[in-house]
Amino acid sequence: MASDRPVLAITGGGSGLGESMALRFAEGGYDVTLCGRREDNLKSVAAKIEALGGKAHFASLDVREADKVQAWLESARQAFGRLDALICNAAGNFICPSIDLSPNGWRSVTSINLDGTFFASQAFAKIQIRDQRPGSILSIIAAYAWSGQPGTIHSAASKAGILAMMRTLAAEWGRYGLRCNTIAPGPVHTEGTDKNLWSVPGVVEAVTRSIPMGRLGKAQDIADAAFFLASAQASWISGAELTVDGAQWLNGGIFGWDPSDLGGAKTAK
Ligand code: COA
Repeated sequence: MASDRPVLAITGGGSGLGESMALRFAEGGYDVTLCGRREDNLKSVAAKIEALGGKAHFASLDVREADKVQAWLESARQAFGRLDALICNAAGNFICPSIDLSPNGWRSVTSINLDGTFFASQAFAKIQIRDQRPGSILSIIAAYAWSGQPGTIHSAASKAGILAMMRTLAAEWGRYGLRCNTIAPGPVHTEGTDKNLWSVPGVVEAVTRSIPMGRLGKAQDIADAAFFLASAQASWISGAELTVDGAQWLNGGIFGWDPSDLGGAKTAK
């Protein structure tokens, strides 16, 4: 029998923003299925979901493998009897000047972002269409999808691709009751960004100065926006992009124009 609680499926749910969104939905009455590459992280988030009164399900996988993504969502559908929302959150990124980026480095990030988002969206849509259930698909992008971002060409190009993907799917799948939207988070504190981005001396201060609202984001800021977009209050919102960044993108690039600002290698001359 289908669960009487709505069900969220989220990729990359084992840490960072993905974990925060998973827990926000559990607090809001959802059961949650997670996927990610590190099983210990998934287990720990699943325990937190259950402590909040939700049921949890997870699969350890790489979103670049379409058959595993499909099997994960089918198994969650089997376990819960229904699916309601998908968040495509899994992403790869690292700072590297474009001139130095290897073909494998390019493929690695663009495939996690683009292939992973498409595989999960398509597998989710097939289940919802088969079940004749509406659903919400939300993908996490970045404001540099429209500005570009020196130092992360693989991520910027694929986030722009995801924006076009969600708009395309909103137009194709609206007839099935599937809404497809994106959130573009600004600079946010998470365990990962605090370690990988904000530990460079002076960067947090510089980034904060670039944000009209005067602070970096909290994971909760993004999780609340994601929860809203999945809710009945957003039932006529589709094909939309919601920037959640304290108006930072209006001030220009996040990190300035030299990747070495963030500790990346100096551009080859
Ligand atoms: N600078 C330059 N090149 C890098 C790099 C860096 N910091 N990190 C990885 N690469 C290159 C590798 O050298 C390799 O290319 P090569 O074979 O030509 O040497 C290629 O990228 C793939 O690396 P690998 O570690 O095998 O990739 P992966 O597919 O296992 O991992 C990544 C994916 C690269 C995105 C990895 O950084 C990762 O898993 N990150 C965690 C998730 C994440 O990035 N989250 C951020 C969300 S914003």
